[in-house]
Amino acid sequence: ERRVAIAPSILAADFADFGREVRAVEDQGADMIHVDVMDGHFVPNLTFGPQMVKALRPHVKTVMDVHLMIAPVDPYIDAYAEAGADILSAHYEAGPHIHRTLQAIRGHGMKAGLALNPGTPVEVAGPVLDLCDTVLVMTVNPGFGGQSFLESQLEQIRRLRAMIGDRPITIGIDGGVDTRTAPLAAAAGGDMLVAGSAIFKHGSADDPAPYGEAITAL
Ligand code: DX5
Ligand code: ZN
Repeated sequence: ERRVAIAPSILAADFADFGREVRAVEDQGADMIHVDVMDGHFVPNLTFGPQMVKALRPHVKTVMDVHLMIAPVDPYIDAYAEAGADILSAHYEAGPHIHRTLQAIRGHGMKAGLALNPGTPVEVAGPVLDLCDTVLVMTVNPGFGGQSFLESQLEQIRRLRAMIGDRPITIGIDGGVDTRTAPLAAAAGGDMLVAGSAIFKHGSADDPAPYGEAITAL
């Protein structure tokens, strides 16, 4: 049986209490922690930068998966390496030099992720797949949590799965993942599912059992 990893997105957690929120979801079975960095320019929302990610690092015992929704990316790669990101994902749409960006991420000793917006054909990943440890397929338009899963992306996930073949590259699915859409995303080829609202909607760091129930349900 194929095991699908679950990555809670702290975008839906209590922003004033990230350390405890991270420890709560890890205690409740999270496989990694998904950290959404937004710049108010590449996407119409703003979250936090490398200083916050660095402050989070000692609280993360699993894997810190940093999803950059920023443009440009290259001037900040060093700062996210220094902040302790294990996986750093950059958007294909964020600039003209994705090949250089993915090389630079690996050059800093991190795993490299390529994130793709719903309007981008997954075929653009072809020329850079061998520079990717993971491809993050967006199943919402990035910027906000709590949006509906775009089922039109299922066909794209299947095409990406076929392109990857037996190479050791994982497929992450990000946006609108809940108990209804998780099986669809996994069946299409997703290895890792990001979930924000579906996990943090019920419970809190003081009452973490609902987080565990949500993770188990997914
Ligand atoms: C969207 C972010 C997602 C978001 C997912 O821009 O990249 O990681 O937090 O949130 P939900 O699971 O609520 O769609
Ligand atoms: Zn994300």
